[in-house]
Amino acid sequence: MNTPSLQILNPAGHLRVVVTKPLPGTHWLDVLIAAGCRVEIVTGDDILSGEEIIALIGDHCHAAIGQLTESWNAELFAALKHAGGRAYSNYAVGYNNVDVPAATACGIPVGNTPGVLTETTAEIAVALTFSASRRIVEADRFMRGGQFKGWLPGLFLGSLFHGKTVGVIGAGRIGEAYARMMVEGHKMNLVYFDLRPNILLEEFIRAYGAFLTTRGEPAVTCRRADTVEDLLERAAVVSLHPLLDAGTRHLINAERLALMKPDAILINTSRGPVVDEAALVTHCRSHPDFRAGLDVFENEPAMATGLADLDNVVMVPHIASATKWTREGMASLAACNVVAILQGHPVAAAGDVRPFLSGTPPPAAPSIVNAHELGLA
Ligand code: DGY
Repeated sequence: MNTPSLQILNPAGHLRVVVTKPLPGTHWLDVLIAAGCRVEIVTGDDILSGEEIIALIGDHCHAAIGQLTESWNAELFAALKHAGGRAYSNYAVGYNNVDVPAATACGIPVGNTPGVLTETTAEIAVALTFSASRRIVEADRFMRGGQFKGWLPGLFLGSLFHGKTVGVIGAGRIGEAYARMMVEGHKMNLVYFDLRPNILLEEFIRAYGAFLTTRGEPAVTCRRADTVEDLLERAAVVSLHPLLDAGTRHLINAERLALMKPDAILINTSRGPVVDEAALVTHCRSHPDFRAGLDVFENEPAMATGLADLDNVVMVPHIASATKWTREGMASLAACNVVAILQGHPVAAAGDVRPFLSGTPPPAAPSIVNAHELGLA
């Protein structure tokens, strides 16, 4: 076991908070230090093992801020509780790496960071969509390889989306933002699948469609699909935005890929295991006009065998939330979560998180996923 090196801020602070990676920005540190925290930050890039995190927690630790690359399981929460820990925040909106029932059983609130990733993640889903459909990476490689010998009618033909159907699976915050970017920006019709209807999104698209007709343009439409299959059969591009749980693991498998149009585009910025990656490799191999844009992978940081050899797949290393504003905002929200719990403040009603991102934050925890179970809601 390696002993990670630490940066310690405000060593005289009376509340020990461990942070398993350096985080961007300074506001989050101001929040912790103003609350009297001694902040211990692991400085390396290596992903910590459970054993290393338990050693870091030690026998005296009031709160922890951890990463989605770490498995915050029952053992870690038991160690945190044993050390006097009263709060944990994931530095992520997703929390499939956290055993929330185990944290609840230890009485430890689990924070996450919603509200600052929405547009940022939707924007990269759009970027992947067009990189895949217009073959940007292949074309870039072609240019750099000195292969461009002049304009040709058939060079790098891709797909036009304007007026076609976009499919969104999971119409929560990020799925909705992506849907709106594609509908408003590219006049696509939306078909979405979600267990709950997104009435506001439906109303927005209806009103936008009506607006377009006043300008003599065809109206855009919105429909909630009854089944994932129905959506997959109709959409020119499908973007995945569900939470990862037992019900969405391998939601996109060989059978469902086979339902998609042969030249469809599949985008995944949610969690890797939502797609059966080996099945995707097989499908992309046998359908050269099918394209995929991936930000997340089934066994990160590894890629399925053969994925890297496919020209019809565009990949980025889980960077959908990687803008300065978002990553600094995530740090502020994680700090505000633990500080509010340590200070006995309530959990804020879900909504605008901007007041937590600068200056003195409101006396509330911005987002605690087990607030209800712990009686904090
Ligand atoms: C999250 O927050 O869940 C993203 O995957 C990483 O930013």
